[in-house]
Amino acid sequence: MAKVVIGARLPGRIDQILAGHEIVRPAEPEAELPRARLTEALRDAEGLLTLLKVRIDDALLDGAPRLRVVANYAVGYDNVDLAATARRGIVVTNTPDVLTDATADLTMTLMLAAARRLPEGGAMLREGRWRGWEPEQLPAMDLGGAQLGIVGLGRIGQAVARRARGFGMRVVYTQRSAATAEVEAATGARRVALDELVATSDVVTLHAPATAETRHLMDAARIAQMKPRAVLVNTARGALVDEAALAAALDRGHLLGVGLDVFEDEPRVHPALAASPRAVLMPHLGSSTVGTRTAMAELAAQSIADVLAGRRPANVVSAPGSH
Ligand code: GLV
Ligand code: GLV
Repeated sequence: MAKVVIGARLPGRIDQILAGHEIVRPAEPEAELPRARLTEALRDAEGLLTLLKVRIDDALLDGAPRLRVVANYAVGYDNVDLAATARRGIVVTNTPDVLTDATADLTMTLMLAAARRLPEGGAMLREGRWRGWEPEQLPAMDLGGAQLGIVGLGRIGQAVARRARGFGMRVVYTQRSAATAEVEAATGARRVALDELVATSDVVTLHAPATAETRHLMDAARIAQMKPRAVLVNTARGALVDEAALAAALDRGHLLGVGLDVFEDEPRVHPALAASPRAVLMPHLGSSTVGTRTAMAELAAQSIADVLAGRRPANVVSAPGSH
């Protein structure tokens, strides 16, 4: 019987999936396992199911000598130091596929809300500034015929492309290597260079992982290259965008709006973004539907059960020998 640490209160059939193992989890009413109990439990735990806001690095792993698997409750795994886990022979898994549609849906939500100026209209109404129907009130963007630029045509980027076609948008994408012909046909997306994508798209949406290369991909220069009255959407990772530069561009009136679900230093939000009526903001809820969060929990638990039983899960991002 192995000890498995579940770092947060999670939905789904985790106990059934991990039957036969000793589970350490938050006690009601805790939402998360306090750091001291996490540290204590990791001394002899073999599995860890963790949230993306916990850094999995040497400092934590030095206190977890028996750990064999880290299941990250997210598709992104920039919180995990893969060199540190690989040195210790620890398998790392993520939760791909199950959250693709939910995240693509939230991307569309933010895009539509920013393009149609939802926060500004709502504020006008609630603050008593609405004097009735007017022909040129809060003029917005037509999505039909507009160009959507997708940075990263992975699973989520592709799901966004399919949705955008339903709105009559033209879709271009950028990615280090071209997508397959099947993917390009299914999404109708045409590959262009990043600079062209940024300079010609009416909406730019980010679907790339946070790495050393993608940090501040949207810096002041790239944001300035965006079309006047364009929209930027980010449901990937905050590190991709220079938030201060973005806030300045919004203040200058260069962009029609932005839709952000992720931030550079969560849960902190740049004060100028929080204050901007042109910013549609959500607190990192891309995968937060009932069905998706349940599926993520069960997938993560299953990957731990698999590794402890000597099986290789399909959703491995790093495993001993694969580096
Ligand atoms: C959430 O941000 C995830 O990576 O799943
Ligand atoms: C607007 O409400 C319209 O009917 O055109």
